[in-house]
Amino acid sequence: MDPTKSFQESTRDIINLIIASFHSSIESIPSIEQIKTNVTEMDRTQVAIVVAVATILLSQLVFKFRNFKSVRKSRFLDSPGFPLPEAAENFNLATQEPLKFRPFRPKYHLTMGLETLNPSELIPMDMTYKERIRYRRKLLREHHDIVVAIHDESDKRIVGAISELYRYIMSTYLPVRYPTMFRLHETAFESGKAYMLENLVMNELYPSEVTKFTSPLRALEILLKTVDEDFLILLPEDEADEKSKYRLVAYETCYPAGFNPRKKLGNRLAKIHEPVPGYAEKLEKSVDRYFESLEVGKYVRRVNWSISTNTELFAAFGGLHSNAAEKEEKIKEGELDIETTLLRCERQTLHRLPTSKALVFGFHTYTYPLSQIKEEGLGEDLAVAIDGLKEGSSPAIHGYKRGPVWADAVKAYLRSKN
Ligand code: HEM
Repeated sequence: MDPTKSFQESTRDIINLIIASFHSSIESIPSIEQIKTNVTEMDRTQVAIVVAVATILLSQLVFKFRNFKSVRKSRFLDSPGFPLPEAAENFNLATQEPLKFRPFRPKYHLTMGLETLNPSELIPMDMTYKERIRYRRKLLREHHDIVVAIHDESDKRIVGAISELYRYIMSTYLPVRYPTMFRLHETAFESGKAYMLENLVMNELYPSEVTKFTSPLRALEILLKTVDEDFLILLPEDEADEKSKYRLVAYETCYPAGFNPRKKLGNRLAKIHEPVPGYAEKLEKSVDRYFESLEVGKYVRRVNWSISTNTELFAAFGGLHSNAAEKEEKIKEGELDIETTLLRCERQTLHRLPTSKALVFGFHTYTYPLSQIKEEGLGEDLAVAIDGLKEGSSPAIHGYKRGPVWADAVKAYLRSKN
């Protein structure tokens, strides 16, 4: 290095030299002789500095490339035994319409009505997401003990099932299925490497797994705040007994259709369905058998329907299903509030978790204004189906769905000219 120059001046010279060589390398690749002459012109210190700067530049490039790869690699965590969903690559939340179901039939038969579900379609997303997620968070603040609960937080089987569901949804399903909405990030805490799920729509980060820092109850709250999906977890009473009955052990449920989920916690399926007329005689055995035998990897779904006249999506205190509908005042024909009368459908799903073997019952609730049904030309079909509630395998279902309160007024509207 030239002792007459300051350190900054020497460094500037060296950087200029690198830039000059870079330029000349673009114009013409230097010959070995040229490189040799350049190198001999520099003293040893200068060569060392050039090598050091070049190494730093190179390592930065390598580091950048490595980061990129690790981002790609950490797009999801593998959840053993679960299917990997297909990516909805160009999914656009803003333009995605809610799913449309018209499940009413001329006669209502109490059947399981299960169909195979593509596991990729476990959680549907649509343009109502943001508004509904805000509503769910309001419910969490106002009705915490009703919308989220665990039967026994010290029960390892229950905690295991919640953790398994949580990890699959937060680390695998969401980042893989909806890459335009969710992204998994690798982070390092004092305790070691960890992954966080970024919700790109709500601008938030959540842990990707249940750890000692995330309690199982908190995990259910996060699920409730992240997906517009109600999840209920069921486990057999006795693990060792194949014929053991399933009980509701934990849930996050914001849209109960006329029942208080807290009152169902800890109960067997048969007890949960006690108010459903005909369930004990017509469904209980087949549902119990189905629950015992449903295999890991098999996903199923069913869709139900009701008419809601005055309830929100959150209907934990009645108003949708009631065996005491006779006591309610009948809505007179022509006095139906068309704005608040809706066809309400639940898209229910069921699958078994691979490790804990718990069953997860999920449902997504959709509502459609009656005017929409009429515009589609389905007014008469729905009117017939309303009468058909009394004509199927369990006629008392008409009363259970509060038909005596709204049926005549709704049918009159559906059949009216305007
Ligand atoms: C294949 C499984 C199932 C079938 C076939 C089934 C069937 C039914 C039927 C027919 C009703 C009457 C309302 C309607 O949907 O029209 C009903 C209501 C209900 N189901 Fe299920 N269900 C199943 C699984 C479950 C599970 C796993 C849970 C929860 C852990 C559950 C909780 C309820 C509740 C809370 C009600 C309302 C009861 C009330 O009014 O208090 N169901 N179910």
